[in-house]
Amino acid sequence: MPSPCDSIVLCRGDSLAQVVSELNLILLGPPGAGKGTQAERLRADFELPYYATGDILRAAVKEGTPLGREAKEYMDRGDLVPDDLIGRVIVERVDGADARDGFVLDGFPRTVKQAEVLGAALESLGRRLTAALSIEVPDEEVIRRLSGRRMCEKNGHVYHVELDPPKNPGFCDQDGSVLVQREDDKEETVRHRLRVFHDQTRPVIDHYLKQSLVRRFDGCRPPEEVHGHIRATLATLRLEEEL
Ligand code: AP5
Repeated sequence: MPSPCDSIVLCRGDSLAQVVSELNLILLGPPGAGKGTQAERLRADFELPYYATGDILRAAVKEGTPLGREAKEYMDRGDLVPDDLIGRVIVERVDGADARDGFVLDGFPRTVKQAEVLGAALESLGRRLTAALSIEVPDEEVIRRLSGRRMCEKNGHVYHVELDPPKNPGFCDQDGSVLVQREDDKEETVRHRLRVFHDQTRPVIDHYLKQSLVRRFDGCRPPEEVHGHIRATLATLRLEEEL
C-alpha cells in the first residue's frame, strides 16, 4: 500500500532523489547571486549531475586545452565567451548518460541564443526544462560579495571571508585545500560582468518568463533560507505535475 509520502517530494530531506523522476533545472542570476552556493546544495538533495560553465571553462584554461586557450581572453575581461563555443560543450553533457534523470545547469544559458540552443537540444531528446530558478540580488550586494569570495583550489567549494567563513581561515572545510581569490573578482571586472549580465542575460529571464518557467528567489536571504525556498518551490512544482 502506498505511503502518504509517496506523492510528496519533501517528506524527508534525504530521500528526495528517490521520489523525483526527471528534474532539468537551470540557475539564473547575476554574478555572485549565489548560484554555485545553491547548486552545491541541490546536488546533494537530488544527486543530479551539475554543469557549471564557469568551472568547466576555468578547468579548460588551467589545462591549456583549445577551449581554454580560446576562452581565456574573454573571461579575463569579464566578457562572455562566444555562444557556439560554450553551446557545444553543454549540449554534449545534457545528451550524456549521466544527465538522463536530470541536471542542474549553472551559468548556462547566458544569452537568448544559448537558451534557444538548449531548447532545441532538449526538444530533440523529447525532454523539457522543469524550471529556471532566478536568484535575485542587487548590484551593490554583488560587489560586496565577490570582493570577499574565496574558493578552494581543489574542488571549487565556495566561501566568503565575512558572510560564510571557513572554520579554519584560508582553508576549505570540506577537503582542507587552500582558498584562493578568482582573477575576475577584482572590482572593475565585477562591474563589467554586471553590465554584461544586464545587457545579455536579463533577456534570457524574459525568454523563460514567456514560457512560464521562471521561479524567483530573494538571494539576499541567508544561504540556508534561499535553499529552503528553492526546495519548497520544487516540491510544489512536482505536486502540480502529478495532479
Ligand atoms: P561563472 O563562473 O559562471 O561566474 P558568474 O555567473 O559570474 O557567477 P559567480 O560564480 O561569480 O557567482 P555565483 O552566483 O555562483 O555566486 P557564489 O555562489 O559563488 O562565469 C565566469 C566567466 O565564464 C564569465 O564571466 C564568462 O566569461 C564565462 N562564461 C561562463 N558561462 C558562460 C556562458 N554560458 N556563456 C559565455 N561565457 C560564459 O556566491 C558568491 C559569494 O557570495 C560567495 O562568497 C558566497 O559565499 C556568498 N553567498 C552566496 N549566497 C549568499 C547569501 N545568500 N548570503 C550571503 N552571501 C552569500
